Amino acid sequence: DDEASVSITVVGASGDLAKKKIFPALFALYYEGCLPKHFSIFGYARSKMTDAELRHMVSKTLTCRIDKRENCSEKMEEFLKRCFYHSGQYDSEEDFRELGKKIELHQGPRVSNHLFYLSIPPNIFLDVVKCASKSASSASGWTRVIVEKPFGRDSESSAALTRGLKEFLAEDQIFRIDHYLGKELVENLSVLRFSNLVFEPLWSRQYIRNVQLIFSEDFGTEGRGGYFDSYGIIRDIMQNHLLQILALFAMETPISLEAEDIRNEKVKVLRSMKPLRLEDVVIGQYKSHTKGGITYPGYTEDKTVPKGSLTPTFAAAALFINNARWDGVPFLMKAGKALHTKQAEIRVQFRHVPGNLYKGSFGTDLDRATNELVIRVQPDEGIYLKINNKIPGLGMRLDRSNLNLHYAARYPKEIPDAYERLLLDAIEGERRLFIRSDELDAAWELFTPLLKELEQKRMAPELYPHGSRGPVGAHYLAAKYNVRWGDLG
Ligand code: BG6
Repeated sequence: DDEASVSITVVGASGDLAKKKIFPALFALYYEGCLPKHFSIFGYARSKMTDAELRHMVSKTLTCRIDKRENCSEKMEEFLKRCFYHSGQYDSEEDFRELGKKIELHQGPRVSNHLFYLSIPPNIFLDVVKCASKSASSASGWTRVIVEKPFGRDSESSAALTRGLKEFLAEDQIFRIDHYLGKELVENLSVLRFSNLVFEPLWSRQYIRNVQLIFSEDFGTEGRGGYFDSYGIIRDIMQNHLLQILALFAMETPISLEAEDIRNEKVKVLRSMKPLRLEDVVIGQYKSHTKGGITYPGYTEDKTVPKGSLTPTFAAAALFINNARWDGVPFLMKAGKALHTKQAEIRVQFRHVPGNLYKGSFGTDLDRATNELVIRVQPDEGIYLKINNKIPGLGMRLDRSNLNLHYAARYPKEIPDAYERLLLDAIEGERRLFIRSDELDAAWELFTPLLKELEQKRMAPELYPHGSRGPVGAHYLAAKYNVRWGDLG
């Protein structure tokens, strides 16, 4: 319905995520003409603020990054005029009722659809959902709620959260966001595989030796220790972002591109996996390191981190999918903070060519001569395939080269931020990139026993210097499965 209006309420409007990601993404969508004609945006939080103050706050986060040649200040003004603020408590039905009235007032007599974005700590999710669904849901159109992780911290708390949400909302009103699914190269994963004959037939144990999912950041928790310390890197990155990529990577061909068909296949992959075993996991924590006269503090030196914390800031793990396609293929994950670089990538290492005629030309290290497909999710997005070729000349010497799709060269226009795609999908009711509750349950089942064991045994993480390549234990873990981490050359 073109004439329907949509309101987008950012609950927790003055928080970091709202400022850094949500408002800028909404503006980008507006700039690109993707928002419905009749829309209004509401910031909701406890602090007192006027509409003008909210607009000022939001304006500082907006940039004209989309089309650098054009001055977009006019568009910004138009956008800001459609942003409003409502101050209220998170557990007050009364305050949400007032918000609801304000929304209706701005939407006019049209069908009015309400989207809430919960950009708030998890301990107040349920209060807000209760109040918003009771007092500010739409009478004439749909009401949807976007929830950010953490969705609990283990199977039990996640199930409790789901039960709580379902008291007030139907599953199709809940949009659980995993922003990695909104990243361009993650979206492209299925296109790469399912629309290229040179890849799809190779996508199995028959040709693939191992798959690596690697996430690294070159900065520590820096002030976010409070949140991070009660979750740790396994819950922060592996159980969601990396596992989601794994499921998309490994799923069987879905019947169609419909959300349910894709999510059905992802759930099957997750349910074909066994819970992680302690011996297949390495945990680490960064310690301080001095480089070039600058001392980078260790994790436990962060004032927001409790003294003596054993929370891992790094983890490596080996996972296996027990189905006909992937039996025996190690899927290795590695995620860490305060490492030497910031990047996220998927590496697919192929098997040896049987009876390779050129074996002799590779020296003793035949492993290095196998093909590797690298999908660089970020930064500097790209896809490259390592192949063997002859060095030009009269002799017969072999070389390794990259067939390279470099996004910056091929597509000079800036790639949209993940939040833009996800917000647009939520407005349009497209659920493909959101996490269904059974997917979430299956994901927690894989990690919960391990997380409990780590905590019960008070397992000490292996320390690694801030800015290094992480704990050496990660190499031993890979070596146990005959794997060499591709990102380390
Ligand atoms: C978030 C994590 O989900 O993802 C953060 O909570 C992490 O710890 C962030 O820094 C990384 O996202 P991106 O898009 O910057 O790679």
